[in-house]
Amino acid sequence: MFSSMLFSTFCLASALLSIVHAAALPVCGARQEPAISKAGKTVAYFGQSQSQSTDSLAKFCADTSVDIIVLAFVNVIKGRRGLPGLNLSGYCWDPIDGTDLHRCPEFGTAIKDCQARGKLVLMSLQGASGMQTLADDAAACEYADNLWRLFGEGTGLESMRPFGDARVDGFDIDNENNNSNGWPKFISELRNKFASASKKYYISAAPQCVRPDKSIGSAIYLVDYLFIQFYNNYCATTGLVSCFNNWSEDIAANGIAGAKVFAGFLGAPDKGQGYAAHSEMIGYVSQIRSKSNFGGVSVWDATCANNNVDADGRTFLKAMRDSLQ
Ligand SMILES: *[C@@H]1O[C@H](CO)[C@@H](O)[C@H](O)[C@H]1NC(C)=O
Ligand SMILES: *[C@@H]1O[C@H](CO)[C@@H](O)[C@H](O)[C@H]1NC(C)=O
Ligand SMILES: *[C@@H]1O[C@H](CO)[C@@H](O)[C@H](O)[C@H]1NC(C)=O
Repeated sequence: MFSSMLFSTFCLASALLSIVHAAALPVCGARQEPAISKAGKTVAYFGQSQSQSTDSLAKFCADTSVDIIVLAFVNVIKGRRGLPGLNLSGYCWDPIDGTDLHRCPEFGTAIKDCQARGKLVLMSLQGASGMQTLADDAAACEYADNLWRLFGEGTGLESMRPFGDARVDGFDIDNENNNSNGWPKFISELRNKFASASKKYYISAAPQCVRPDKSIGSAIYLVDYLFIQFYNNYCATTGLVSCFNNWSEDIAANGIAGAKVFAGFLGAPDKGQGYAAHSEMIGYVSQIRSKSNFGGVSVWDATCANNNVDADGRTFLKAMRDSLQ
């Protein structure tokens, strides 16, 4: 209840701002080029793996093979007390009073450590278990507002913040429920908040390689980074180069200025269909990395990619780094 009262005030204010912001964009070209080097970046999802006894966010922050860590997942849009729900599996399960959120202080510490090392930490939304949808613009707006207050710079939900005063660097849309409704509005709401924030924030999306993606829809044209899932579909492996090129050209023509496209791989054969082993993955990357909007490589997920070592003792994460050299 209290959250929907706050929402109506915040949402109206940002809806008004959104008109100003949208009108100002083409005139001043205010958006900065996302921070991707020529070589490209490595991206690893973290938080859903079951083999977690020796793993932690801090461990992957310290791994020089990883540039961007994507936490998985905020899997509930509107749960108890009207707030989003967080599932970092066994890495954090300390429910916050009457909500579907969890208190994860060690994540807060690790996020700050990652950022001090120049790495980005994004909070991923939905995932394969994220079945809730955004019914309308008001729902998209409320969701953006709550996420901003729980994980970003918004105020009013301090006692519910899973990572304490640590702030993530942005949000990743990994919607997979075949309903793309509301995501463009969600993004514009977040962009309004980012415009007056203390640092740069990013929005990414993780569509399946099959085009067009039914779950993310036209929101693919509004994000900074696309972590395309080249697995569990026909466009994994054999179709990868052709499909990547189609994505790259579409985003170059229709995406926001500076948007980058990443090729997403499985970190181990048992994580799904369409696994490409270390050297095979490097071979694919060599065929797509000359694209001007190539952003790098991503992996599902950090834990299995770290445990997956080739004959030379090289982790899949290290092979990802090598693919960009
Ligand atoms: C949280 O995620 C784990 C790993 O995916 C899953 O096994 C578990 O059922 C989820 N729990 C809830 C309450 O969604
Ligand atoms: C989404 O559509 C795909 C392809 O038709 C299907 O395989 C998948 O099960 C659908 N997912 C949901 C959550 O309905
Ligand atoms: C890429 O686009 C071309 C031209 O539209 C099409 O023929 C081809 O099938 C597409 N490739 C994939 C893997 O979707």
